[in-house]
Amino acid sequence: MNMYNEPKLIIDWDDEDKDYMLNGSTSWKSPSNLAIIKYWGKYGNQLPQNASISLTLDAAHTETTLEYYYAVPDSDWIEFYYDDKEMPAFAQRIERYFESLTEIFPFIKQFDFRIHSKNSFPHSSGIASSASAMSALALCLCDMERTYFRTLKDDQDFYKKASYVARLGSGSAARSVLPGWVEWGENSVDENFSNLFGTRVTEIHESFRNMRDAILIVSKKEKSVSSSAGHQLMENNAFAAPRYHQANERLGILMKALKEGDWATFGRIAENEALTLHALMMASEESYILMVPNSLKMIEEIRKFRKESGVHVYFSLDAGPNIHLLYPDNFKDEVHRFIKDTLLDLCVDGRIIYDQVGKGPQKLA
Ligand code: PMV
Repeated sequence: MNMYNEPKLIIDWDDEDKDYMLNGSTSWKSPSNLAIIKYWGKYGNQLPQNASISLTLDAAHTETTLEYYYAVPDSDWIEFYYDDKEMPAFAQRIERYFESLTEIFPFIKQFDFRIHSKNSFPHSSGIASSASAMSALALCLCDMERTYFRTLKDDQDFYKKASYVARLGSGSAARSVLPGWVEWGENSVDENFSNLFGTRVTEIHESFRNMRDAILIVSKKEKSVSSSAGHQLMENNAFAAPRYHQANERLGILMKALKEGDWATFGRIAENEALTLHALMMASEESYILMVPNSLKMIEEIRKFRKESGVHVYFSLDAGPNIHLLYPDNFKDEVHRFIKDTLLDLCVDGRIIYDQVGKGPQKLA
C-alpha cells in the first residue's frame, strides 16, 4: 500500500506563470531515538511486526543539507559527503532509496543531488545513525516538495509524510521526526496508531517528559550484523510470534506507566525489552551476540546501585553493545556521581553522551 502515490508532483519547466527555481538547497537537523518497546521484525514494505514506542533524543543528531540542481544528462544523480568526505558507497544506498521514492516524489528524477551530512556523535561510536540520517533526508525531501508545489503547508501533514518517507529508509526513523515520545505501529490501545507513520504520544508524566539518557559507549566497533539482517533473521526465529504478541501487549502497560509517572513499571519493561531484543539475536539462526563483557558488567553495576540507593535508574540497549542509562532529571546528581565512580572506567576512551528527551527535528537556516 502506498498512501502517497502522487503523479502530479512533477515540474513543468516550461510553465511561464511559475517562477521555478532550477537549483536550491534545504538543511535539517534530526535526532536519533531510543525505543523502549523495541521494533524487531518487519514484513512487506518496511512494516513493523509489532508496535514500538521511543523517546526522541536531543544531543545525538544528524545534520543534512540536500542541494538540488536541474538534472543534467549523464551526470551523477547523487553525490554524498559525510563530514565533507565523499562516500560513494553511501551514495549508492541513497540512490536505491530515492529510486524507491519516485512514486511519492516524481520530481526527484528531475534533479541531481549533492548531500552533505554529519553526526553530532563521533563516527564509529556504535550509535545507530540510520534513524537520524534517514529522518533528516526525508524532512529535506518533504521540504523540497513544499517549496516547489506549495503542498504540506499544514505541519501535521508535513510531519506525517516525513515520518512515512523516513520509515521507507529505516523503520525506526519513522519515530525520529516527532518530538518527545513517539509510537509507531497498529495497536488496540489507540485506533489512530498506524504501521505507516509515527504518532506523537502526549499523555506523558512530567518526570518522563524530561527524562535523561546517558549513552555509555562500550565499544566503537561496527556492528557485526546489520539491523536489516537482524530483522530478516526474525522470519525464522522460533520465538517470533510470542515476541510480537508480548510487545503489543506491553505497549498499553508502558503507556499507562508513562502517563502516571510509574518508574518501577517503566524500568521493568525497559530492561526486559532490551534483554529480549538481544535474546532474540542469540536465539536466531545464525545466532549472534552484540553485547560485550563490559555491557554485562555495567548491567550488573546498575542493578546493584539501584538496589542499594533506591534511585530510579534503568538500562536499555539498542542493536549494539552500548548501554543507555535512563533516569529522572531530579536524580541527575546522584546518577552522574555513580557514572563517574563506577561506569566511566568501563567506557571506551571514557566516552559518554549525556542526552535527554528532545524537541524533535529542526529546519536549519
Ligand atoms: O530502523 P532499523 O531497521 O535500523 O531497526 C532498528 C531496530 C532497533 O533499533 C533495534 C529497535 C527500535 O525500535 O529502534
